[in-house]
Amino acid sequence: MNYALTEKYLQERKDYVISAVSLYHPITVIRGENAFLFDTEGKKYIDFTSGIGVTSLGHANPELIDAAVEQLRKLWHISIMNLNYPSYVELAKKISEVSPGKEKKRVAFWNSGSEAIDNAIKVARQATGRHVIVAFENAFHGRGTYGPALAATGKYMPYKESMEPFSQGVELLPYPYCYRCPFRHEYPECGLACLDYMKKWFTHARYPPNRIAAFLMEMIQGEGGFVVPPKEYVKELKSFLESNGILLIDDEVQAGFARTGKMWAVEHFDVEPDIMAFAKAVANGLPLSGIAVRESIAEKVHLGSLGGTFGGNPVSCAVGLKVLEIMKRDNLPARAEMLGRIIRKRLEEMYEKYEIIGDVRGLGIMQAIEIVKDRKTKEPDEDITKKIINTARERGLLLLIAGLYSNVIRLHPPLTIEEDVLKRGLDILDESIKEALKKK
Ligand SMILES: Cc1ncc(COP(=O)(O)O)c(C=O)c1O
Repeated sequence: MNYALTEKYLQERKDYVISAVSLYHPITVIRGENAFLFDTEGKKYIDFTSGIGVTSLGHANPELIDAAVEQLRKLWHISIMNLNYPSYVELAKKISEVSPGKEKKRVAFWNSGSEAIDNAIKVARQATGRHVIVAFENAFHGRGTYGPALAATGKYMPYKESMEPFSQGVELLPYPYCYRCPFRHEYPECGLACLDYMKKWFTHARYPPNRIAAFLMEMIQGEGGFVVPPKEYVKELKSFLESNGILLIDDEVQAGFARTGKMWAVEHFDVEPDIMAFAKAVANGLPLSGIAVRESIAEKVHLGSLGGTFGGNPVSCAVGLKVLEIMKRDNLPARAEMLGRIIRKRLEEMYEKYEIIGDVRGLGIMQAIEIVKDRKTKEPDEDITKKIINTARERGLLLLIAGLYSNVIRLHPPLTIEEDVLKRGLDILDESIKEALKKK
């Protein structure tokens, strides 16, 4: 392969693609094979990005290709609002069966995570007759639409800058991000001061509980930097919501589908969501998203208020069925948990070696390190974070950045990654930190 091709595509991107679509890694990828990606020069990379937590069953998975091709040959679009077709209905049934909670769920599909969140909010507002949605700072719920998903996203730049006014009726509260507690407390000595703030101050000063339709929450913040809330927080929040007729919308777009070591992140907290939104890994990268709603809530939503021409494409749904079959057959939640333990151990060893690692955290295979200038002040170090990621790429490992201060390195390998490839990737991360520190 040749350099000219790489340059050509990068130049054409500069010339023709709107520059607001950012590019983190300046390489042009033409092929994938499970946990590997290959660029135009034939260079091989270990992929710890999975297309931002999407290709959980690896690139070019042969079973998924067969499922897609079989459906492509039969039917690839008719629109579910016009005519019925099997793959949509069968996937709705399967998702309903595996979704968390005792009550039967009803399901509908769209294409992106942002659409799923906007529609989850439509359902919550119709079902409760209330309008306020409470979400969290440092959260990400989507920039693909201009509705409440964007309003509920808790990072201003680049997602919200110069885009006011946002969809109304969305309020943000501090997330229990204990490493950077906005109240400067330490967990558990804090006694969940942030929850206390919400129950007392917020409900008196901003919105009384009887005006709130739903809380929208990621059970582990993804773009926010793999922040895991204390279990106690989620349980207490849920009991407050229940006693006030407020719904819980669980955003499983990034963390769902086995990534945390359980099928759904919410299962780590022993609470049942009322509405769950999913996307990303559901069809391993073909566009598909959806919501699973408790039947008693779904029944309150009026006919024709949900839909869209493309939502629940027949090919995406056929692949989604195969994804669920493989996840169950190969017990991928357990594999995510096992691989996550390997990653966690290595990251903790790196924490012992490198002072710039301020925090190691995550659930299942979703593990991250937060990079700081000083462990005491916790001042974020975006520069060295970038250096580590760029060095890793030069050495053949693709990583993702995250966090409010762009100083978190989050690991999103496929759940099908071979153990030796995972370990090689972790070695490269370790070497890259060492190398980046030399360049400092
Ligand atoms: C938790 C979460 N919710 C919603 C979204 C939005 O999904 P999409 O980019 O498919 O619109 C994302 C995307 O990263 C996400 O991580």
